[in-house]
Amino acid sequence: MAIDTTSKILIFGATGYLGKYMVTASVSMGHPTSIYVRPIRPDADYSRLELFKSFESMGVTVIQGELDDHEKLVSVLKQVDVVISTLAVPQHLEQLKIIVAMKEAGNIKRFVPSEFGNEVDRVSGLPPFQALLDNKKKIRRATEEAGIPFTYVSANSFAAYFVDYLLHPHDKSDQVTLYGTGEARAVLNFEEDVAVYTVKAATDPRVENRVIIYRPLKNIVSQLDLVSAWEKKTGRTMKRIHVPEEEIVKLSESLPFPDSIPVSILHNIFIAGAQVSFELTEKDLEASQLYPDYNYTCVDELLNICLVNPPKPKLAAFA
Ligand SMILES: NC(=O)c1ccc[n+]([C@@H]2O[C@H](COP(=O)([O-])OP(=O)(O)OC[C@H]3O[C@@H](n4cnc5c(N)ncnc54)[C@H](OP(=O)(O)O)[C@@H]3O)[C@@H](O)[C@H]2O)c1
Repeated sequence: MAIDTTSKILIFGATGYLGKYMVTASVSMGHPTSIYVRPIRPDADYSRLELFKSFESMGVTVIQGELDDHEKLVSVLKQVDVVISTLAVPQHLEQLKIIVAMKEAGNIKRFVPSEFGNEVDRVSGLPPFQALLDNKKKIRRATEEAGIPFTYVSANSFAAYFVDYLLHPHDKSDQVTLYGTGEARAVLNFEEDVAVYTVKAATDPRVENRVIIYRPLKNIVSQLDLVSAWEKKTGRTMKRIHVPEEEIVKLSESLPFPDSIPVSILHNIFIAGAQVSFELTEKDLEASQLYPDYNYTCVDELLNICLVNPPKPKLAAFA
């Protein structure tokens, strides 16, 4: 299939964890790329200013503005074709402002809202996590109601982040914490691939008004699989400490919100196995099948990278 490099892409949340990968993917695939970011404050830290400089050197147009500045949003949206949002979890409902502005602008060919996790219309979780899934659903329904063409991305789990979280490759520790029995399977996709698949899908007519699921076969692993693979690669034997499911459920009930979210997510991914709890059918769009020529980094390759130079993922919170 011919690659579309002409669509002008606008990214919200570009300075964030996933956003930076998204900007790089969009630029490297040849799209005129702009980002809408909160205005730089006089006391902005050095790293934020450096980040903007590096974006500009990549040819990215940096537009400073608030999500509340409706007029500005509409005029910026009128100049682009595709909108990808990687806004942070607490800002998910703020995307309603972008939807209202896109509706008024009237020209947006595709909107990818900030999801990048579980397939929200097909799985459910413990109440603190369900609250997040419900917000994502609200954004889906508002997008459809506004008549804006969409692509919903179920990217499952970010691999570099969760490999770091579960195995601590920097520590060279001989101990590992496993949630539940460790047998439930999850889908761990490398962040760089999540971004590339998203830019491809956002400009692909086959994915218009569809959900796309990132579930490459080689990335479906259990915690026990991960630990065994890591032991083989490092030559170490790791002591497995299991946290029972009941303990995780209790914590999800006793911790105050939003502290209760991370344990509820761990439960969903690594105990309930929600990401592979439903079969994909011919009607589903799966990224590695839709883009077979793209050479994604599978979990095993990521572990090889971690052996030599483990990435240091910095996430505000996971969701
Ligand atoms: N599947 C997984 O494993 C996984 C893991 C993590 C996240 N996710 C999902 O990925 C998406 C992006 O998450 P992320 O961790 O990359 O986000 P993030 O780094 O926490 O934040 C993304 C951006 O949101 C904007 N933002 C933050 N606070 C804001 C505020 N108070 N007001 C307005 N804008 C604000 C900032 O953009 P500016 O300052 O530039 O405006 C920030 O760079 C989310 O939908 C999340 O659910 C999935």
